[in-house]
Amino acid sequence: MSEDQSKLPAVSEADEKEHGAVVVSEPIRDPGIEPHEPRITDIDPKAADRVERQVSTMFGLAALLTVGSCVAYFAIPRDAELVFGPLSGNANNMTLGLTLGLALFLIGAGAIQWAKKLMVDEEIVEYRHPAHATPEQKADIIEGYQQGVEESGFTRRKLISRSLIAAMAALGLPTIIFLRDLGPLPGRKLYTTIWAKGIRVVNDVTLRPIKPSDLQVGQLVNAAPANLAPIEEESPVEYQNAKAKAAVIIVRIAPNEIRTPAGRENWGIDGILCYSKICTHVGCPISLYEQTTHHVLCPCHQSTFDLADGAKVIFGPAARPLPQLPLAVDAEGYLVAQSDFTEPVGPSFWERG
Ligand code: FES
Repeated sequence: MSEDQSKLPAVSEADEKEHGAVVVSEPIRDPGIEPHEPRITDIDPKAADRVERQVSTMFGLAALLTVGSCVAYFAIPRDAELVFGPLSGNANNMTLGLTLGLALFLIGAGAIQWAKKLMVDEEIVEYRHPAHATPEQKADIIEGYQQGVEESGFTRRKLISRSLIAAMAALGLPTIIFLRDLGPLPGRKLYTTIWAKGIRVVNDVTLRPIKPSDLQVGQLVNAAPANLAPIEEESPVEYQNAKAKAAVIIVRIAPNEIRTPAGRENWGIDGILCYSKICTHVGCPISLYEQTTHHVLCPCHQSTFDLADGAKVIFGPAARPLPQLPLAVDAEGYLVAQSDFTEPVGPSFWERG
């Protein structure tokens, strides 16, 4: 019996009877580390030079591709299409994605090739040590870092280090240039909607103008301005923008339950009030109305507004009440706006006064 076998638990006679002959095998031994094989680049300087050229070519190409992405950003029209058989996509976006993606891939592939073929190839064993480092250990770490820099060849292999620096520096360019897409600033566009004096309020679905008598106490209707149709004919995109900003809700509340904010005494008609439908948190359409409490809830993050109290926020992350649209009745008895909203609709933004 070997020394290792003598350490194994003894097999009882009862076990042998029950399971038959028990074969006790040797424990698997630690195979250790394979003998170190030098790489071709360790013994053949020409091979090392060849790999160096490969790596620096990858880094150099990465830099060129990154600069190319910046050129493509300006040169390719925003609405140009690339078609590949049944697939198609925006040419500008696809070119940016391909050039930047390939540049990052080449930097990664070059770094791997550099580490595998050129950096010092030593197998070392490091034992765990306490987390707290003594001054000597810190000095060791700094020395080890400097040794690592030296062994990586970063300072010695100028071709690689320069091409890598160029590739990494080039990557900063698109980051700066693409900031342009945050502009242009919207100017007054966020302040105004297409509501104006005398514009009729129409049902959002039927597009019929609404009379005060069409609404029962407790009823809430989604509505829109009557002047959207001409915009739709001119530009579908503008139509969507205008419709989204001008969306409103009309609600009828018993007049004795309304607490009218100062200055808005003539903004409602017999308990009929009109508010923006766009949540002042981050712009979801508010929707869930609770008749008995006059609360309306935004489904996105549960901001809750009290429509009987100037739509002020009673719960949730919204920071300000829903803007109110002043209402009047025209000569034919239909609800109309007295003016546009007196404040911007939707989420707060940095330029808001
Ligand atoms: S968008 Fe309405 S609560 Fe967040």
